[in-house]
Parts: sequence; structure tokens; C-alpha cells
Amino acid sequence: MSMLICINGQFYPESEAQISVYDRGFQFGDGLYEVARVYSGQVFGLQEHLERMISGAKAIHIPLKWSIDDLRNIVLEVVQRNSIEDGLIYWQLTRGTALRTHAFPPSAQPNLIAYPLVFTPHPELAEKGINAVVEPDQRWLMCNVKSTNLLGNVLAKEAAKQKGAQEALLERTGYGVIEGSSSNLYIVRDGTIRTAPLSNLILPGITRHFVLQIAEKLDIPVRKEYFDRTQLYNAHEVFISSTSLEVMPVVQIDDRTIGAGKPGPITRKLQAGFRQLVN
Ligand SMILES: Cc1ncc(COP(=O)(O)O)c(C=O)c1O
Repeated sequence: MSMLICINGQFYPESEAQISVYDRGFQFGDGLYEVARVYSGQVFGLQEHLERMISGAKAIHIPLKWSIDDLRNIVLEVVQRNSIEDGLIYWQLTRGTALRTHAFPPSAQPNLIAYPLVFTPHPELAEKGINAVVEPDQRWLMCNVKSTNLLGNVLAKEAAKQKGAQEALLERTGYGVIEGSSSNLYIVRDGTIRTAPLSNLILPGITRHFVLQIAEKLDIPVRKEYFDRTQLYNAHEVFISSTSLEVMPVVQIDDRTIGAGKPGPITRKLQAGFRQLVN
């Protein structure tokens, strides 16, 4: 079934949905995006996703002509019109359409598009865990902004794929291994979780927000601290989190087996806690 795509509040069949070649998202990566999960017809963490987009728009000075309620209504309408029961919804806001010039063109009006993403869940991976590799973090210094300019993430993910791994864990000189190319990263040692603190160097993941809430509820200690590659390799457990992967165990990194080579008890507790939250 063809999906319906929303462009600036209007709905079009996929084959008729068009955006200008002068859109700055296309030409400069000058935009923001969000991906949210739909469980049983409900958008999980919608308020948090919308707030992250609004703070991103402020950070890169995109003037928003949509209020948070307008954005929410558009996202919910896309979900409803496409009858998404369980899946993913994507929306993207760019600075708009204008003849190519680096500085902000005064005439540009933001463009907002939204549509369902094709989503294939992989429960078997959540059961047995994934492989990852450490790659250099070559991204810019505003990684807290969920920008459509994803070249650093794309190159790292492709490098991981070439090495037969599912995720690239990004190592930033002077800080350690700070997050995945499309996920937040955690290590567990002696029952304590460690994850990089929020800063301009990592994305404030919505799943991370809920994972830390679950850890607190379960009395699992969390330290928001950087850790290096040696600490990563020697962790008892490693896991990542993201909207599409939820809580995903990592059982091998480069040529090292992590812990017992299978998902550990803290990861399992968080997976179960997360499932309870979304079911
Ligand atoms: C670099 C990066 N870090 C973390 C995440 C996880 O964020 P969320 O939990 O909001 O999906 C993503 C998701 O795409 C990401 O691209």
C-alpha cells in the first residue's frame, strides 16, 4: 500500500510527494530530524521528541512557524492516516528553500516533511546481542543537535558494516568511546552502569532518558562519566539504546568478547523494564 507523506501540513501519495532541489536540507544538510516509535498506535516519547526538535531549531536558528501542538498534530495525523500500529515515524525540518548561499537566506521558509519509515524488528538480536567496532568520531561539535547532516555517522556505520559489525562505537580524542553512530552507549562493571554525560558531544537520546529512569527505579547505580576503550573492552556488560533498537546488548567489540559473550543480567533487567514501559 502506498503511503501518505505530509509536506508542510498537506498530504500527498508517495509518488506525488515532491520537494525542491533548492531545499537546504538537500543541499547543506541544514535541517533537523526525529524518528519515533509507534507501539499499538501510540507514539512513544512524542513530547520528548518534539521538545528535542524545538531545542535543536533554537540551537541552529531555524525559526519555527509550527507550535509544539501543531507539530504533535501533524505527527499524529501521519500515524493515523497511514494506519501505523507498530512501526516508526520520521519527520524532518529544514531551513527551507532558497537559491544556494551558505548564510541563512532571509526569504527561506522552513520545510517540514513527515512519513512512516519501513521498520523490520529483529527480536533475535535483542536476545543474543550484536557485534560492534570502535571507529574514530569524525563528527562536528554540535552532536547534541539531531541534524540531518549525518555524514560522520554514515561513514562510521558503513565502516562497521564492512567489518561485519552492526554498530560503530565512536571514539572521540580526549574523551573516550562516547556513543554509537546511531545509538547511545553504556558499559556495566560490578553492577554499575556508566554512560557519557550529556554535552555537545552526544545526542540526548530519548531512549537513554527512559533507560536511566528505569535504572533509577530498579536501584541500579548509574555514573554519567566518560570511559575509554580499555574500560569498554573490559566491561562485564555493554549495551546500546535507540528508538528502533530499544535496549540492545553488545556481546563482541572488535576482536574482544564482552563479559560471558551473551547479554548480561543488568542489560536483561533494563530490556524487561523497557518492554513494560511500552506494552
Ligand atoms: C548519534 C545518535 N545517538 C543516539 C541515538 C539514540 O537516540 P534515540 O534514543 O532518541 O533514538 C541516535 C538515534 O538515531 C543517534 O543517531
